[in-house]
This record gives sequence, C-alpha cells and structure tokens, in this order.
Amino acid sequence: MSYAVSLPERRLFEAWRAAARIAISHRIAPEEIDWKTFSDPDDSQTKGGLFATSPLPSAPGAYQAHVPQAFISLAGSVIWHSSPGRLAALYQALWRIDQRQGDPLSQADPLGRRLNLMAKSVGRDIHKMHAFVRFREIPAGGRRRFAAWFEPEHDTLEPGSRFFAKRFADMDWMIATPRLTARFEAGHLGFHPGGERPEIPEDASETLWATYFANIFNPARVKLDAMRSEMPKKYWKNLPETRLIPDMLKDAEARVARMHAAAASTPRPGSAPVSTRYRATLPVAPELPDTLDAARDAALQCRRCTLCETATRTVWGEGTPDARLMLVGEQPGDHEDLGGRPFTGPAGQLLRDVMAAADIDPSSVWLTNAVKHFKFTPRGKQRLHQNPDRQEIEHCRWWLGLELAFIRPELVIALGASAAFALTGNAAPLGDRRGRIETGLHGGPVLITWHPAAVLRQTDRAAAMALRTALSNDLAMALSACGTPPDGENVVSLEGTECASSRFHSEGL
Ligand code: URA
Repeated sequence: MSYAVSLPERRLFEAWRAAARIAISHRIAPEEIDWKTFSDPDDSQTKGGLFATSPLPSAPGAYQAHVPQAFISLAGSVIWHSSPGRLAALYQALWRIDQRQGDPLSQADPLGRRLNLMAKSVGRDIHKMHAFVRFREIPAGGRRRFAAWFEPEHDTLEPGSRFFAKRFADMDWMIATPRLTARFEAGHLGFHPGGERPEIPEDASETLWATYFANIFNPARVKLDAMRSEMPKKYWKNLPETRLIPDMLKDAEARVARMHAAAASTPRPGSAPVSTRYRATLPVAPELPDTLDAARDAALQCRRCTLCETATRTVWGEGTPDARLMLVGEQPGDHEDLGGRPFTGPAGQLLRDVMAAADIDPSSVWLTNAVKHFKFTPRGKQRLHQNPDRQEIEHCRWWLGLELAFIRPELVIALGASAAFALTGNAAPLGDRRGRIETGLHGGPVLITWHPAAVLRQTDRAAAMALRTALSNDLAMALSACGTPPDGENVVSLEGTECASSRFHSEGL
C-alpha cells in the first residue's frame, strides 16, 4: 500500500505534525508515503501509473510515538525550507527515533546533518527578512499603512512575520512574497496567496534609509567581504540604500585619503592664530581653485560630507564678485535645493523684502550660505529642514573661505547661529551677540544678526515684528558701514568698528 499526503502551505507545521502522528501510529514506513504540499508539482499521474495511492487513515491508531523536544523544535524550522524533500526527511527522522535506529538528530548522522543544515539556512533566511524588509508607507485615512515586497530564499514568511506583528502592532502592514502574502490588519495577522511583485509607490522612507546608510557608511572601514556576507547581493535590488553602494565604494579610497589629510593638518585647538587655524582645516593645496568661477565649479561636485548624498544641488553664492557686503545664511532650503539659487524660498523672500526696505540691491552684494547642501529629514512627501551639525559646517567652510578670499568683502553679515559659527568659530547663542561685530576666522568683521527664518518661525506677532525690525536695523547698519547709509532713523553707527579690507587675510585660502 502507498499513501499520498498533500498538505496546505499555511499552518504547514501543524498540518505535517497531525499527518505524521497518524502515520506513525499506524506504523506506516517512510517509503510508503509520498509527502507534498498543495503547491508542489503534481506528479501523481506518473506515480499513480505504478502504485495505487490512498490518503492516510483519518484518525490515529492506538499506538502513540514519543519524541524528544529537540526533534519538535528542529522540525519547526526545517518545515519552512524550500526543499521538496524536507517533509519526507522529517518523517524519516521521526521513524528512526521511534524505531531507535541511531541518532537521526545528530550532526554525525547524514540525515541529522542534512536536517541541521536546513534549519540553519531557514534561521538565516528569517534573520535576513527581519533585517532587509523595507516598508513603504501607503497613504491612508486611519491607521498608518505600510507595504513591502520581499523575496525570501525559503518559505519563511509565516514564521518571519511574527516579529513584525509584535514590532508594528499599532499599524496595518503587508509583506508580499512570491509564494505568500502576510497581511496584518487591525491587530490580526493573516496569510494569503502570493504572486507577482505588486506596485508599491516609493515614499520618503527610501530617502531616509539612503540618508541613514550614507551617514553610517565609514569609508575607512569598508570590508567588502564582510559587507557582502552581511548583505548578500541578491537582496540588494529591494533595498533603497544599496543604490548608493557602488558610488560610495568608488569614492571610498579618495575619502579615506581626504580624512587622513584633514586629520594630519588639524592643529590642537588654540595652538595657532585664528587665520592659520582656519586655513588648517582646509585640504591640501593641489585642489585649490584659482578663481571664484573655478571654486564654484569645484563646489558643484563637492562630496566632502554625506549631505551630497541626498541634496539635489550645490547652492553656490550669487551676486557681484566685487561685493563690499556679503550675507551668509545657514544652508539652502527645499526651494533653493531644487532651484539651485540661494534665498529664493519663504525665508529668502523675507530677507529680500527686508533688504529692499534697507535699500540693499541683492545684485550689489554677495548672498551665500555656510553650508552649500540642503540637509533634511523626509516626512511623508515633505523634506523637513534639519540644522547642519558642526562637522558639516566645518567641512563646508572650505567653500565659504574661498568665497571670502575671492570676493574680499568689507563686511560679512552672519544670518543666524550656523552662519555665525561658520564665520567666527564661536558657537555661543545669538541672544547677546546679535547686532554686534565680531572678528571672523578670516580676520575680517562679521556682523551677527537673526536669520530671516527665525522671524517666520515666531508665532507671537509682536515678537516676530521685533525680530524683523532688529534684522532690518542690522542690515541698514551694515550698509552704512560699507556704502551709502540709507535714509531713516534706525541706522546705528558702526563708528569704532574695524571694517577695512586691509584686515582680510586671504592668502592661502
Ligand atoms: N535659508 C538659508 O539660510 N539660506 C537659503 O538659501 C535659504 C534659506
């Protein structure tokens, strides 16, 4: 007699266990059973021609087999392996345990070794699923909804998705795979047939992953073999961050060299005069552009920090290269990043209004930023501004230094704390510094004032007006120091402050 056992793919372990319990209780030998799942290819035509098959008895016999717990847990892993032979191999092991034929669970036994290898491969596959599933948010009204596509090596979606059910219990999500789809809706996990990769639109989390990956990527620590074994290439096509890997690897050697060069030339704080300290943060001379245009061309390709991985454009300064007045903001915003010009978004508009009121023609000054790339956090479809950190400002000082060196303004206006830090090296809060002149790292005068975005952020109308008036007064004061003072009562004299171009130390910048 020969038996055919066909098991459902969902809740497969429970189904196999029930069938194996019946088969062993009737002392049906392994070679008498043809095990398969509903989705295995149907070869009953060929087999049926030689042997008549029948289903297993519907109920267990009187005999009850006992197995060690280790077998149950091994079987609970092996069952998800993609090999069609796994169901038969497990029953073979069960039969031998029951017949006391050696130790089919041990590594020394060929069957035991095979089962243990399968279990290990399944465990690895589940681990990779937890690490490499990348959800994309699907716009929805109520609970947040996410969807992901994943291609596991084995049939591991069912055991693997319990982890997601615990971790993302407060959201609805779906993981689609070629064989099965897991859906978690209103706290209930269900499984449905799999199929083709569904259309899941990209969302901002792609950029977030890419940004995160680019930020943790350390070119000095690239170990390609370890990287490939942790993140095998077959998973790359579904991982947003891996799009960056080829470029990051290409650039890794050069970045390490730059890191070494920068590290070697950085003196201890306070050990050198300001101008030397400023110069010392710059990379070695061969890359030194010799004109403002050459500096801009080089900046357009800047990869000195990781902001270049997500910003759309380098936003270089604009205005007249002969400017006596330079205004430095923090960094381009969303609008500037897309358009490539500084101060064109809402904060830029406010600045331009205030400048117009102070009679400052934007084309007669140099308008630029401390950081030339937009730093942001993706949130839904929006890119939310993030303050640049110290290191990013310091990296970008190279470009600001070149602008200062070629333009040689008489006075620089620092708009906000990032610009003030970039220009003076002093990170103290602006409260006590605003409206004052400090000496910049380049040796020239720097007038500290509010950033126009601070005016926009202020929710209290009176406070916003006060900030705007202060900004406007500071601009008027700057103009009076560097050109014809505007008419008006709010002009504060700069008498006594040094504002002469002779104070600029631009050599070597
Ligand atoms: N804020 C800045 O600091 N600079 C810009 O260019 C735009 C907004």
